[in-house]
Amino acid sequence: MKKLFGVIGDPIAHSMSPLMHNDLFQLYQLDAHYFPFHVKKENLADAIKGLKVLGVSGFNVTVPHKVDIIPLLDEIDPLAKAIGAVNTVVNVDGKLIGYNTDGNGYVRALTNYVHHIEDKRMLMIGAGGAARGLFFSLASAGVKRLDVANRTVEKADALIEECPYEVKANSLSLKDAELALAEYDCVIQTTSIGMAPKTDELPINLERLKAGAFVSDIIYNPLETRLLTEAKERKASIQNGLDMFVYQGALAFELWTGIFPDTERMRKTVEMQLGGKTC
Ligand code: ATR
Repeated sequence: MKKLFGVIGDPIAHSMSPLMHNDLFQLYQLDAHYFPFHVKKENLADAIKGLKVLGVSGFNVTVPHKVDIIPLLDEIDPLAKAIGAVNTVVNVDGKLIGYNTDGNGYVRALTNYVHHIEDKRMLMIGAGGAARGLFFSLASAGVKRLDVANRTVEKADALIEECPYEVKANSLSLKDAELALAEYDCVIQTTSIGMAPKTDELPINLERLKAGAFVSDIIYNPLETRLLTEAKERKASIQNGLDMFVYQGALAFELWTGIFPDTERMRKTVEMQLGGKTC
C-alpha cells in the first residue's frame, strides 16, 4: 500500500518540502507520496488525530506548530524535548514520535564546510526559536566556544542556561559582538534580519571579522543576504540557509525510510524551484 507523508503548517503553499521528498521517493523507487497540509492553529489537535487514525507514516511540522504539537504526540525524542520544538514526526505502529532535525541538520551542513568544529570559536547571532535548535545541537557536537549575541541579552542568557549540554558560552549585546568579532572562527546568523523583503538590513557590522572566518546565515530567501555578501567581500567563506533546509529534510527522510538521501540532488531540486544559484 502506498505510504503517505506530508508537512503541516500555516501558510504551507510555498513549502519546497513536497517537491524535495517526492523526488526522493521516485529516486529510491519507494511507493510513497508527500502532501502539503494547510493546518490552522485552531485545528492542530484535530489534524494530528486525523493524521494518526489515517495511518500517515510520517510528517514534517513547520511554522506555527513546532512547539504546540509537543503535547499532542505520544513520545518526544530527548533532543527535541530539550529544544522544545518538533519538526519531524514518525508513526511507529500507531504511535507518533516527535524529533527535531533542524539543529542536527544545521550541524551536518556546517561540517561539510568547517572541519573539526570542536576546535572552533563560534558566535551565534540571535536567541529565538531557530537559534535554540542550532545552539543545543552545536553544543552537543562539542563546539569549543559558542557565544550568543542578541538584541535582548536576557534571552541569550536564558538560552545558554537552558542548554542541557556542557558548552563554554557567554552572552553579548550586538554592539559588543561587533567589537569582539575578531575572536571568532565562525559566525552563525539565526535572526530574520536580512530576509526578504527587508534585504538591506544587517544584524551586525563585519568590520572586525577575522581573516579566513566562516560566516553562515540560516536565511535562504534571498540566497545571499547582505551579511553574506559583505562577508564574501571580506574574503570569508560563506554558507546560506539552503543547506540547513536540505539537511533537516535529509535527516527526516532517513528517520522515515532508513535511507540517508542524496543531498546534492535535493539541493539542486530546491535550487531549481527557487530559480537561482546558491553560494
Ligand atoms: P525564530 O523562530 O525565527 O528564531 P523568534 O523566536 O521570534 O523567531 O526569534 C527572532 C530572533 O531574531 C531573536 O533573536 C530576535 O531578537 P530579540 O530576542 O531581541 O527579539 C531577533 N530579531 C528579530 N528582529 C530583530 C531586529 N530588528 N533587530 C535585532 N534582532 C532581531
